[in-house]
Amino acid sequence: MKAINATPLVGSTVSIDRADFLSGKYAEEIQALLVERSALVFPNMHLSDDEQLQFARTIGDIHLVGGDALLQNISMDPKVNRSADYTRGAFYWHIDGANDPVPAKATMLSVRTLPAEGEGGDTLIANTYAAYQDLSDEDKKALEGIRVRHCLEASQRLVRPQPSLHELERWQSYPAQSHPLVWQHKHGKPSLLLGASCFYVEGMDLAEGNKLLCRLLDWSTQPQYVYRHRWQAGDFLLWDNTGTLHRAAEYPLDSKRLMRRTTLVGEESVA
Ligand code: OGA
Ligand code: MN
Repeated sequence: MKAINATPLVGSTVSIDRADFLSGKYAEEIQALLVERSALVFPNMHLSDDEQLQFARTIGDIHLVGGDALLQNISMDPKVNRSADYTRGAFYWHIDGANDPVPAKATMLSVRTLPAEGEGGDTLIANTYAAYQDLSDEDKKALEGIRVRHCLEASQRLVRPQPSLHELERWQSYPAQSHPLVWQHKHGKPSLLLGASCFYVEGMDLAEGNKLLCRLLDWSTQPQYVYRHRWQAGDFLLWDNTGTLHRAAEYPLDSKRLMRRTTLVGEESVA
């Protein structure tokens, strides 16, 4: 296995023997590299669904979406993706499963159909370990103890700013969470827990809290913390969902762009 940095702080391109990739021979190394580099690109893999699942099981447990789906279609076309409406939230910086008590450990995508030339649809991943690390000591001190309410309503309002009552009630029927703004991980590196799911900062004046969330999101998504993945046929992309923010760059809702996605069950609650 050989890894090359894509940028100084985030993203690596990994070449690995296909049989070794599938067998889990380097599972430990891949997981360590994932925490270190936030996002790993495996070019030219052309994985089948079964191969993607086989690899996924070497580094964790597969999260069953909707109770039984091992893989999801990521597309903005409702004919291909029953949850296309919710998927539109992916155009904004977010963490997968931030509304769950234990957010997903990692997310992986295999490209099935590339977006058309000039359509957009890159995937961007920001390293929030590095972003936290670079905050001033004063900021780090000020963030201690701050908690944020996360919910689906927050991210869906970005997609549909003026919902019907019926729609609002549907969003509100999903779980919401209170998470610390700074996630203290077992491995020792803290990260910022931010993104589209943030509804408000608890116990803070709403406008002040919104300003704080906005400032930290601006900070965390500066170019030096972001890896931008430009998709090529056969690519497999894996990211550490617990120490990153990610989003899809805007692309047309009727694009043929299609990803096959698997997420791993979180292994660490946000204490
Ligand atoms: C996701 C996601 C981004 C993309 O699948 O969780 O946010 O680029 N995808 O499709
Ligand atoms: Mn996502």
